[in-house]
Amino acid sequence: MRTQVAIIGAGPSGLLLGQLLFKAGIDNVIIERQSADYVLGRIRAGVLEQVTTDLLDECGVSARLHEQGLVHGGIELLFKGARHRIDMRTLTGGKTVTVYGQTEVTHDLMDARKAEGLTTVYSVGNSVTLHDFDGANPKVRYMKDGQQHELECDFIAGCDGYHGVSRASVPEAALTTYEKVYPFGWLGILADVPPVSHELIYANTGRGFALCSMRSPTRSRFYVQVPMEEKAENWTDDAFWNELRTRLDPQARDHLVTGPSLEKSVAPLRSFVAEPMRFGRLFLAGDAAHIVPPTGAKGLNLAASDVKYLSAAFIEHYRDKSSAGVDHYSEKCLRRVWKAERFSWWFTSLMHRFPDAGEFGQKLQEAELDYLVGSKAASTALAENYVGLPL
Ligand code: APR
Ligand code: PHB
Repeated sequence: MRTQVAIIGAGPSGLLLGQLLFKAGIDNVIIERQSADYVLGRIRAGVLEQVTTDLLDECGVSARLHEQGLVHGGIELLFKGARHRIDMRTLTGGKTVTVYGQTEVTHDLMDARKAEGLTTVYSVGNSVTLHDFDGANPKVRYMKDGQQHELECDFIAGCDGYHGVSRASVPEAALTTYEKVYPFGWLGILADVPPVSHELIYANTGRGFALCSMRSPTRSRFYVQVPMEEKAENWTDDAFWNELRTRLDPQARDHLVTGPSLEKSVAPLRSFVAEPMRFGRLFLAGDAAHIVPPTGAKGLNLAASDVKYLSAAFIEHYRDKSSAGVDHYSEKCLRRVWKAERFSWWFTSLMHRFPDAGEFGQKLQEAELDYLVGSKAASTALAENYVGLPL
């Protein structure tokens, strides 16, 4: 088999890239380790920047997003028992975010790919190997139904997440990695209950961070900070709701509706960047190249901006016979990536209890929160990062 771009991974990065390339007339094949149902079963964040919704518009897959997505013009910060609204819409000259689950984005992209008859090879397990990407004729080999296959291509897009084969195929000496692991995780729960408030509440409390988020007017997502070694199975639904309740203000507590969990899991918090993001004809995009802690909801949005740059680079290559986009891909992505890394690290540091912060650290955190909600300059800095920096 031969294609122009071989895409490894059918997460949001791979599917979005496939769609953008298809729209530009560039042939592509996606190879995915898991089944489509498995990919759709993963629960991830759900806050889309304007840049991301624009891209989904460009791909022609945003009908359901505009119908069901919830447009939010602000977020609420809860600390010292009181809530403070950050009016992002006013502070950024009209920008908003859209709350729409990553699972739904993936669903819409998969449906579009299927309708267009594009090739996605699912359930190849750990069989993918990458070859000759340092030359002009890269190849991807994989096993499907007990048979070995080879896909020849012009380029390989490594969209296979943090644990994927793409980054692991790069010689160690060619890669520099930067990493920070936070000493806690998020215990998350999904339930068919109405949201506590019409906007997201990010809470800094004596018992740790909490977040009240949502998927729709009838489905909510909640998180509480837990020690990093905590296991979800140690938490009954009641224990979760009780812990969340202690981290809310009285009004939010009154509005909290509880119910059986549809999903419960612990996610570790990590910051990670691999540089560069291009090795000859192999390009990394999304979680394959970088991870952010979820506090700023930047993971999916960063994946979308990488993919925008990458599709533009391939279009320049085929249409204009220019290598400028390909040559500048890594540098362009990393500028935006590091800004989102900084913001996600800062927001995480501001909102969580750190075991070694001490009383001095605690007081500084309170002072910064106080400054943040009282200063237009500081609120604007939060707002413009949260809604997303320009491409
Ligand atoms: N071969 C083929 N596919 C693979 C392999 C492999 N060896 N390893 C991983 N994959 C697949 C995974 O099964 C997954 O479906 O690659 C896909 C990567 O998807 P994501 O992990 O969702 O990463 P990405 O598409 O970059 O999306 C970034 O999604 O994971 C969240 O927090 C992240 O929101 C961010 C966004
Ligand atoms: C979510 O709804 O899952 C969510 C929202 C905002 C975040 C992280 C996760 O910052």
